Amino acid sequence: MSTKDFVTYVKSNNLVDVLQDYPIAKDFLANFRLDAISKALPLPQALEEVEEETLDEFGLDKHGMLQKFYMFMENFAQREETSTTVSSLTILGGLNKLKKRESIELTIVSGEVVSVVGPTGSGKSRLLNDIECLAQRDTPTGRQILINGEALDEIQRFEMGGKLVAQLSQNMNFVMDLTVREFLEKHANGRLAKNADEIVEKCFLCANELAGEKFPIDTKVTQLSGGQSRALMIADTANMSNSPIILIDEIENAGIDRRQAVELLAKSEKIILISTHDPLLALMADKRIVIKNGGIDRVIETSDTERKSLAAIEKIDNTLQMFRNRLRTGEIITEDLLR
Ligand SMILES: Nc1ncnc2c1ncn2[C@@H]1O[C@H](COP(=O)(O)OP(=O)(O)O)[C@@H](O)[C@H]1O
Ligand SMILES: [Mg+2]
Repeated sequence: MSTKDFVTYVKSNNLVDVLQDYPIAKDFLANFRLDAISKALPLPQALEEVEEETLDEFGLDKHGMLQKFYMFMENFAQREETSTTVSSLTILGGLNKLKKRESIELTIVSGEVVSVVGPTGSGKSRLLNDIECLAQRDTPTGRQILINGEALDEIQRFEMGGKLVAQLSQNMNFVMDLTVREFLEKHANGRLAKNADEIVEKCFLCANELAGEKFPIDTKVTQLSGGQSRALMIADTANMSNSPIILIDEIENAGIDRRQAVELLAKSEKIILISTHDPLLALMADKRIVIKNGGIDRVIETSDTERKSLAAIEKIDNTLQMFRNRLRTGEIITEDLLR
């Protein structure tokens, strides 16, 4: 069911039926102390009868609570599987910020990792957003995105949008006060019937390996640091996401093992685009898109010669990491640490 259909479904079915179809919605009600809500009405009407104070406690009004519910269901409920297999994504050029034609037709195939580089404000995020919304010459850039070589009509675009592309730029919407274990369990149960326990364990170990600072599985997700929650998201995406296209906007500030994160995602046979200023990440990619003045200026294939410099860059990166860690733990920095 698409998000739009789902909203219509929630509006036109009594809560009791929704709970029957999607038992996980019970957890949502319990978390927001709405267990006692009238089940004989559709959720929007039932919410009308709820005391303002009950919702106030969570800083939400009725509309906000309804939005939270849709978001929650989007994240956790078992929804129809994507039937589209994406074997390629094509970017057809539009106009740069100076209104000059961007003469490009770039096809990225599944399993490829592509980095997006360029100065701040040049248009890296814009390119990722064009892909996320499957632009059809209707965004400020005028670009068009093809999937498997085909343009998308309005309906396909709307229905595919949420399922095709996972953006790791936003923070995960942790709607509830779950522990890491509970969070992963819900995700696993919502998406995969079999070996959920195994996947949860795998995701947890993987997240911990990626995170700069380790965390126990019973940590509340809301207590994770930026880096730790990013690590959790990446582990979750790599192991559980059905989305064939993954977009990552500026991963470097997150304090995670970036190299490992990319290697992990790359193994998943997805199409991966990463905007970055980080030479380590940029050179790990198969190609890099160079953005200038809002347009794709060049596409550079990573050569063997460039790849050879990765080891040296990594050494420098490790040294910097060591300094960062010393700073964090209150140690003194001296020059002899460089030797
Ligand atoms: N081709 C374009 N045409 C018009 N506006 C653009 C174009 N590319 C980028 N922009 C706009 O320029 C601004 C900066 O782009 P952004 O993608 O945020 O840069 P970056 O992520 O590289 O720092 C944004 O407002 C974006 O919408
Ligand atoms: Mg940006």
